[in-house]
Amino acid sequence: MGQDEFPLCGNGQAGMPILLKAWIPAFAGTTSIRQTGPEIQIEGFLPEQTDIKFMRRALELALQGRGSVSPNPRVGAVIVSPDGKVLGEGYHHKYGESHAEVEAIKACGGADTNGATIYVTLEPCCHRGKTPPCSQAVIKAGIKRIVIASDDPNPKVNGCGISDVRSAGLEVVSGVLEKEARYMNRGYFTLREKNRAWCSAKIALSIDGKMANLDGESKWITGPEARKYAHTLRADHDAIMVGGSTVWNDNPELTVRSVEGPDPVRLVLAPHRGIPVDSKIGTSLNDVPTVLFTSDDATPEGLDLPGLKVHRFQMDKNGRIDPVDILKTLPQYGILSVMIEGGSYVLSSFMDAGVIDELAIGTAPSVVGTGVSPFDKFDPVTWEKRPRFREGIVRKSGTDFITTYLREDSSFSLD
Ligand SMILES: NC(=O)c1ccc[n+]([C@@H]2O[C@H](COP(=O)([O-])OP(=O)(O)OC[C@H]3O[C@@H](n4cnc5c(N)ncnc54)[C@H](OP(=O)(O)O)[C@@H]3O)[C@@H](O)[C@H]2O)c1
Repeated sequence: MGQDEFPLCGNGQAGMPILLKAWIPAFAGTTSIRQTGPEIQIEGFLPEQTDIKFMRRALELALQGRGSVSPNPRVGAVIVSPDGKVLGEGYHHKYGESHAEVEAIKACGGADTNGATIYVTLEPCCHRGKTPPCSQAVIKAGIKRIVIASDDPNPKVNGCGISDVRSAGLEVVSGVLEKEARYMNRGYFTLREKNRAWCSAKIALSIDGKMANLDGESKWITGPEARKYAHTLRADHDAIMVGGSTVWNDNPELTVRSVEGPDPVRLVLAPHRGIPVDSKIGTSLNDVPTVLFTSDDATPEGLDLPGLKVHRFQMDKNGRIDPVDILKTLPQYGILSVMIEGGSYVLSSFMDAGVIDELAIGTAPSVVGTGVSPFDKFDPVTWEKRPRFREGIVRKSGTDFITTYLREDSSFSLD
């Protein structure tokens, strides 16, 4: 099945105005202990400051495509006249529909775009795909300057959008707010860099590092503010994944509730146990796309539930589904980013496979004692080879702390 035919992400909730700072951890709204976002003065007349101001707006616009553009990137564009007036703004709304540059040109509504500057968060495309090439639309509009946040790693573009506009005589400035633009499209870049989806994990822990007690009770370790932030993170991923025991013990809904945002696709990794038919997930399959991951020949509970998609994998020699296989499969479903929400079996197997790109750890001021640790089924080969992470952004959220880490060798940055 090709990705063109089967994008599961796209429940039509794009278009909600959400501020960039509401979700990019580096700009998050909760009290920051360490100031990590670049402080940018947007007043003043230096061209770089003007470029940053309009690029920031283009990023805000791009964000509105979340939940409906994957496997395409989120892209926003702003067109500004030579005397600094915004003539038009646009973003890529939905997979298969017109691109941000074309939307922005349309939004100019016939205003004179000759000599204007266009701010665009990703290099314009130069190939005819589902829509005509944006580089040509920009040239045809008489635009004279193009400011780009990041290059497009798609082999069909990869520099040709920039060379098209440069050959037509446009001034090109690139790399403005590049880190933010790359992070916003981390799934899109990870697909090109690693041929798999981006993988985050969100874990709520007690002071002593436990995610549940030995009876499996874990509900709401952290407080309402941290849980709200977790919903913001959910809305920023194409999919959420949990292990079977979490579904059977906790009966989660895995939807976005306390913030505005699209529901991600739900992925349940439960080859043998499956999904209880009367669970919250089992009874809402028509509302939220859900995929059960199982093995070649298993017949787990819920297999025939109407609306449930089932993907079968071959088990590896340890009787597990290889996490790398899962992440390489997800783009077929239009999923470029997934957040794991437990439990420890699934977290440990993904840590074992070395594919957790980002960790968001919520720590609550309580002690569980003997209980379940998030990675207690993980067994590093040697001390030296233990997985390492970097760039801990710490923020206070109600009574809890949330720390976000990237893999030590990540090509992305939060600072
Ligand atoms: N504090 C938190 O943030 C948090 C979040 C979520 C969960 N929890 C708690 O964590 C506990 C559950 O953790 P857990 O470790 O027992 O279970 P789990 O990871 O939720 O689920 C384990 C099951 O998932 C399937 N599975 C996971 N990885 C697999 C792989 N690579 N290949 C094949 N199957 C795989 C297996 O299903 P089959 O049995 O079908 O083979 C396995 O038995 C619960 O008590 C829950 O309340 C806490």
